[in-house]
Amino acid sequence: MFLTLSKFIRNIPLQAATFYCDKMGFEPLAYKGLETGSREVVSHAIKQDKIIFVFQSPLNPGNEEMGEHLIKHGDGVKDIAFLVEDCDFLVKTAKERGAGVVKEPWVEQDSNGRVKYAVVQTYGDTTHTLIEYLSPYKGLFLPGYKEPLFRDPLLAKLPAAGLNFIDHIVGNQPDDQMVPISDWYQNCLLFHRFWSIDDKQIHTQYSALRSIVVTNYEETIKMPINEPATGKKKSQIQEYVDYYGGAGVQHIALNTSNIIQAIVNLRARGMEFLAAPDTYYKSLREQLKSAKIKVKEDLDRLQELKILVDFDDKGYLLQIFTKPVQDRPTLFLEVIQRNNHYGFGAGNFKSLFEAIEKDQDARGNLTVTTPEGQAKAFY
Ligand SMILES: [Fe+2]
Repeated sequence: MFLTLSKFIRNIPLQAATFYCDKMGFEPLAYKGLETGSREVVSHAIKQDKIIFVFQSPLNPGNEEMGEHLIKHGDGVKDIAFLVEDCDFLVKTAKERGAGVVKEPWVEQDSNGRVKYAVVQTYGDTTHTLIEYLSPYKGLFLPGYKEPLFRDPLLAKLPAAGLNFIDHIVGNQPDDQMVPISDWYQNCLLFHRFWSIDDKQIHTQYSALRSIVVTNYEETIKMPINEPATGKKKSQIQEYVDYYGGAGVQHIALNTSNIIQAIVNLRARGMEFLAAPDTYYKSLREQLKSAKIKVKEDLDRLQELKILVDFDDKGYLLQIFTKPVQDRPTLFLEVIQRNNHYGFGAGNFKSLFEAIEKDQDARGNLTVTTPEGQAKAFY
């Protein structure tokens, strides 16, 4: 099972796809819309190495399903697709174990090959599409998709981002939903628990979270599942849940083999990232003095670019987070490079939280909580 693509519902998918191409280094891959015979929904697929994002929107007035999704959630990730070997078996197993099946298996084909799909319901209004190639597919992307209508000549002139694959996708849950959701992945999709942390380890002066990471049998897909924990002020997970209208995808982490070059180039393309304070690097330098590993990259360079470092006795990871990629403070992106380290940056959660809280405060959402953990706004 492999993670192939994320499907976004957007008010203006053409412009959203353009943003991801211009700012994050994607290129148009394929298109489905009125010109290709798709009369109800338009789809813009963009690609960067193994990462594929699809932006969709209804074409006609009165599309209740997509319209209601947009009203409730705003722009966001609707579907995370998995490439699977046996779609029928997975749907049957998931169904037997209580999963909601949004769409039973069906086959689509064109002159380039045949593909089987099914859609299952996961947290909130988010779904997973299971994709099984019934024959080697020779087309651009999937049946029905054609060449993009336009390839912007500007893209070839911009420095390459060098992002290679989706490292992990994090789902935020309302309070007390983390365990049932991680159980759902284990029972229904045959995932197992990969790594976990609790709110005692992940908190700032103000807010806290709990997280469980689930993964598939081959450990090619990593899905951390978060829930808010009570802190002195409203957790940033709760802020997400409030603005997204429930559970949903919080961030997508994109793996690169050269994060310094990636961030130099993404900043040159105009991408905005959260900034860790200089005190973070001061304490990092202290901690690294007694560490068993050596970070190969120049620490001054990492500090200048605001890239974070997390490490253990065996290896380290480098990571950085974007600001939210739409107006609601919901979905953001991460760029990550791993060096024999398989965590998710728990050592950086505190500084990440503090950077997010600075923005959360600017949005008027770093509100004080009552003893029960309910948010109470200042007036
Ligand atoms: Fe992450």
